[in-house]
Amino acid sequence: MEALFRVDSRMLSGHECYLCPMMLPTIVHTADGSHTLLVPELNEHYHSTNGAIAESMHVFINAGLEAALPGKSHLRILEVGFGTGLNALLTLLHAPEIPINYTAIEPFPPDPLLIAQLNYPQLLAKAEAGTLYKSLMSAPENFVTKITEHFILIKKREQIQQINLESSTFDLVYFDAFAPDVQPELWETIVFKKIFDALAPGGILVTYSSKGLVKRNLHEAGFEVERLPGPAGKRHITRAVKR
Ligand SMILES: C[S@@+](CC[C@H](N)C(=O)[O-])C[C@H]1O[C@@H](n2cnc3c(N)ncnc32)[C@H](O)[C@@H]1O
Repeated sequence: MEALFRVDSRMLSGHECYLCPMMLPTIVHTADGSHTLLVPELNEHYHSTNGAIAESMHVFINAGLEAALPGKSHLRILEVGFGTGLNALLTLLHAPEIPINYTAIEPFPPDPLLIAQLNYPQLLAKAEAGTLYKSLMSAPENFVTKITEHFILIKKREQIQQINLESSTFDLVYFDAFAPDVQPELWETIVFKKIFDALAPGGILVTYSSKGLVKRNLHEAGFEVERLPGPAGKRHITRAVKR
C-alpha cells in the first residue's frame, strides 16, 4: 500500500496518535480508490483496505442507517470513533430530509492537514460533498453545529469508556473503534452496556467486527445480536438491536 502523504512532525498541531506519541498516520489508497489512514507502527487502518467508502456504505449506511430509518421522523446517531468523518459525510449524503442529531466521539482527531488531503468529496460525486465535508471537519468540539437545515453535529473529544451518556437518547450507534485486537478495552461488555442504556428501545448498533468475543459481549450487555454478510474481503459484520 503506497503512502501518499505523511505529516512531518513540524506540521503537527497537537494531534499526535495516542497509542504511541511518536506515531503519525499516513494516507493510503484502498481498493475502491478511496483513501484511508494507516498507523504504520501498528499496521492498523481506519477503514478496510478493500475499500474505505465501500466498507462504510455497507456497514454503517446500508446495515445501520437504512435499518434504523423506517417509521422515524427524526434520528439520533452516536458515532464511536469519528476519525476521518467519512461515516458522517455518507450519512449526510444518504439520509432523507428528516432532522438528524449526530453526536461524534473522538478523543484523538487526525491532523487537519491530513484531513484536507482525503479524496472523499471528489469520489462521492455530489456537488455539495466538498462543502459539507469541510463543515463537518471544521465544526468545533462541544458546540451544537448546524451543518444543514436537517443535520446537527455535536463533537466530543472524549473516550467512550469515560463519557457519560444519558439513557434512551440515541436510535443508532456507529461503533467504529480500532479493532478488538488493538484496543480490546473498547469492546468490553461494560462499554456495550453503557451504549445499550443510551439507546432507545428498538435502537441499533452496527459495527464492522464479527469477532466471537464482540458478539458475546454485546449479548451479555443485553443486545439481540445478528451476523450479516460483510463487504468485500470480510465474511461478516455485526448488527445488535435493543429489543
Ligand atoms: C477505525 S478508526 C476511525 C474510523 C472513523 N469512523 C473514520 O471513518 O475515519 C477508530 C477511531 O477511534 C478513535 N478512538 C480511539 N480511542 C477511542 C476511545 N477510547 N473512544 C472513542 N474513540 C476512540 C481513534 O482515534 C480513531 O479515530
